Amino acid sequence: MANEIYLPTDHVVDRSRLPSFEQYQDMHKQSLDEPQQFWADIVNDIHWQTPPESGNFMTYNFDITKGKIFVKCLEGSLTNVCFNVLDKNVRNGYGDKIAFYWEGNHPEDYSRVTYAKLYDLVCQFGNALRDRNIGKGDRVAIYMPMILETVVCMLACARIGAIHSVVFAGFSSDSLAERMSDCKAKVLVTADGGWRGTKLLTLKDTCDEAIQKAKEKYNHEVKTCIVVAHLERVTACGKLPHDLRDLYKWNQDVDVWWHEMMEGQSNICPPEWMQAEDPLFMLYTSGSTGKPKGVLHTTAGYLLYAKATFRYVFDHRDKDIYWCTADVGWITGHTYVVYAPLANGATCVMFEGTPFYPDNDRYWAIIEKYKVTQFYTAPTAIRALMKFGDSHVKKHNMSTLRVLASVGEPINPEAWLWYYKLVGSNRCSIADTFWQTETGGHVITSIPAATPMKPGCAGYPFFGVDPVILDNDGQVVTGVGEGYLTFKRPWPGIMRTLYGDHDRFQDVYFKRFPGYYCTGDGAKRDEDGMIWVTGRIDDMLNVSGHLMSTSEVESVLTEDSRVSEAAVVAKPHKVKGESLYCFVSLNEGATYNAELVDALKRRVRDRIGAFAAPDVIQFAPGMPKTRSGKIMRRVLRKIALGESDFGDISTLADPSVLDELVKHRST
Ligand code: WT7
Repeated sequence: MANEIYLPTDHVVDRSRLPSFEQYQDMHKQSLDEPQQFWADIVNDIHWQTPPESGNFMTYNFDITKGKIFVKCLEGSLTNVCFNVLDKNVRNGYGDKIAFYWEGNHPEDYSRVTYAKLYDLVCQFGNALRDRNIGKGDRVAIYMPMILETVVCMLACARIGAIHSVVFAGFSSDSLAERMSDCKAKVLVTADGGWRGTKLLTLKDTCDEAIQKAKEKYNHEVKTCIVVAHLERVTACGKLPHDLRDLYKWNQDVDVWWHEMMEGQSNICPPEWMQAEDPLFMLYTSGSTGKPKGVLHTTAGYLLYAKATFRYVFDHRDKDIYWCTADVGWITGHTYVVYAPLANGATCVMFEGTPFYPDNDRYWAIIEKYKVTQFYTAPTAIRALMKFGDSHVKKHNMSTLRVLASVGEPINPEAWLWYYKLVGSNRCSIADTFWQTETGGHVITSIPAATPMKPGCAGYPFFGVDPVILDNDGQVVTGVGEGYLTFKRPWPGIMRTLYGDHDRFQDVYFKRFPGYYCTGDGAKRDEDGMIWVTGRIDDMLNVSGHLMSTSEVESVLTEDSRVSEAAVVAKPHKVKGESLYCFVSLNEGATYNAELVDALKRRVRDRIGAFAAPDVIQFAPGMPKTRSGKIMRRVLRKIALGESDFGDISTLADPSVLDELVKHRST
């Protein structure tokens, strides 16, 4: 554990709104002791159609032994998130300010949209949705590339009170079908396709399959599929058919073009005034059982928390140009590509492509082109870019940068130092932001000009956040120590439930340690009181920042009739952080060969998505099980790592399986 302390430099401190550690400490203390007073500033900076009841900032029960878990924030108020991020900014004179610079996959494709223009588009699309009878509480599925229409669509939903459910466009048609059916989405919004480097994503085609599968497998009918014609307006970066219409089928009864729906729509669209705890959106995340969890976020608390974290964690100032590379398909894209920056009237870069196209310096070229001041990306991207050496970074002028940020998994000190020294020229602060789909916004992080930093260390609780480290028996670990990362009380942005399954919500997050929200991550507190997040302690894998459960992948592998049993473990990977190492036992008569390995890998790609593709499929004549039949994953992890010291194996029912596993180990 690297323990070198880095302090904020004048480059950051001089322009900061929160320039000292003492100030951070005072504010953090107030946020816990007097929440109402603490949040008042930002609450007053939100438009309330009906103001919240005073003296009633938050009510909650976090203790399952005392009854149902609930969290309510700013009850009694009426507001609209879209109104706050658009109308309010336009009314405050930001109409001509750029909301987004859009940069396409190909460097020759770019555009921009002002707050006023974004407002018009959102209103028009809101009206188009209303024309199709979509309104408050209806679910809208979104399966889109990183284009401006995606933002327009999300905000239009927020405006009319519909609940958007964005599904990352790297998910397979099976995953999309399952998610659309679970929330009973009325409509699906997509694009004909999109580019990632030289790879063409045939999104509309995947949607057709998903709509079909939703009907057959879940008996759920998606009545409308809205399609943005994206491919014809951008440069082709790889092979396209002669006629774009060959990429998908057009179903007259279901499909409708985005541009046709927008035609003639008015740019006046009265917002639906929402109660504080009305749903804003849902977003599926992996659970440790197979079925994905529909994390639900609500209106007032989410908006408040998104606005506050962006203001302080990125130390945002009016003229800044902010860029978050996350895809809108993940929570980072929801909170920190769309809602939080717009709630602060920020100018953002939105990028459709990859860091490696047309060359491996694309990120740095974009930072130079738009004079980016805050840059937010993932450790896996940093590690991938480090491999290409320093020259790509050095050839670009990135002197505008002030704050660098990281999210998705613990950042290894080597990557942190490269980010700090090379990308940040030894003078930018790095915010290693720990949070989850469930937390809505950052919960543990550095504050750029206020807190010290250590490579690989997330740092300090954000305002309103009260982290507690618990040991295995649920005892509080005070001072230096390690254990489960939990939270003793809610903050405004925390999830409120799992869509349609409050019991599961309570079981997953509040049962293990009554009185606490359990993150599923491990953490340690060091001698300086700083918090290090050490990674998942449940059966979850984190591949390139994508969270998935071992059981999710195992159940796909066992769908193949040749496989009798599967066990998946994480193997450390230089770039991806972790990769999937799968063990499979086979049924009588089945043979392990290259064809089987290919078929299984393909199956995982098809069923979950390409990002989940296993690196290794190893034959396991038997699994290392305890006498009670539980697979000892710890042992499998050692096999995957190539180690031969298995620790205590006295509870193993049949130790001879170990020799077989070692024999079949992939090298
Ligand atoms: C899990 C949540 C929050 C947006 C991205 C992922 C891991 C995330 C960090 C970090 C250490 C991190 C945790 C967490 N994680 N950021 N800065 N340091 N670990 O959202 O898919 O809900 O995944 O990502 O394990 O529980 P998600």
